[in-house]
Amino acid sequence: MLKKCLFLAGGYGTRFLPATKAMPKEMLPILDKPLIQYGVEEAVQAGLHEIGFVTGRGKRAIEDHFDSNFELENRIKGTSREEALQTLEELIDTCTIAYTRQGEILGTGHAVLCGRLLMGHEPFGVVLADDLCLNEGLGVLAQLVEVYRKYECCVVAVEQVAVELTNKYGIIDGVEQEDGTYLVNELVEKPEPENAPSRLGIVGRYILVPKIFDELERTEPGYGGEIQLTDALNALARTDRIVACAFDGIRFDCGSIEGFVEATNYCLQKRQGHQP
Ligand code: G1P
Repeated sequence: MLKKCLFLAGGYGTRFLPATKAMPKEMLPILDKPLIQYGVEEAVQAGLHEIGFVTGRGKRAIEDHFDSNFELENRIKGTSREEALQTLEELIDTCTIAYTRQGEILGTGHAVLCGRLLMGHEPFGVVLADDLCLNEGLGVLAQLVEVYRKYECCVVAVEQVAVELTNKYGIIDGVEQEDGTYLVNELVEKPEPENAPSRLGIVGRYILVPKIFDELERTEPGYGGEIQLTDALNALARTDRIVACAFDGIRFDCGSIEGFVEATNYCLQKRQGHQP
């Protein structure tokens, strides 16, 4: 029974300063749609309609985005602009949304822990909206949900990363199964290439089971002095099954200017009917 999804949106977005001084990085648009909306659409496509946001100071624009704006709606009613808001309004209607704040930015694991009250005792999806994942068919979260249905355990999305980039990702060591998934033995947060157990890097999409919260409570600060979700998953992997899914689709690191521009160009090509 998977219906919840947690969005980690507390981080500062320092790589986009000054743009992100007063605007959440999750609200940066790829063409005309904010990054976070792509993520929520992906969650809804995966059947996850109960959305939790972990936000923080300066992130109110996210709440306003997923709310009604009667004045604006009235003003554009009957004009050619009406359609532009329609998809968003439909999206809002299909979700229930709850918010909590991460008072201090203490890592991805800490952010997940902040969502404990929102997610409760059920398995849930996790989205880091910086990672924009696109696929023609089933979205990446929907693919993870399918894997969860089969294995009933934590699932992480992975893709091959360049060897010199292992220190930008959580890296897994796993044994490939016939269905293209991996049974995970170990997860390491941002190892240098010489210490990386593979080149399979974690992408910001997960399915987690509630047991992860107790593990996160026990997790000491790791890479960068922060509480890392990767470390908690690694501890869980000693006793429980964890599966990695090399998904179908394309992923852009929109937390970096290069990735953001690539995503923008890709989406523009698509919109103009070209094959990117
Ligand atoms: C986080 C995770 C990392 C993962 C990455 C994917 O790192 O800690 O394991 O590979 O997201 O984007 P961050 O990019 O937030 O430093």
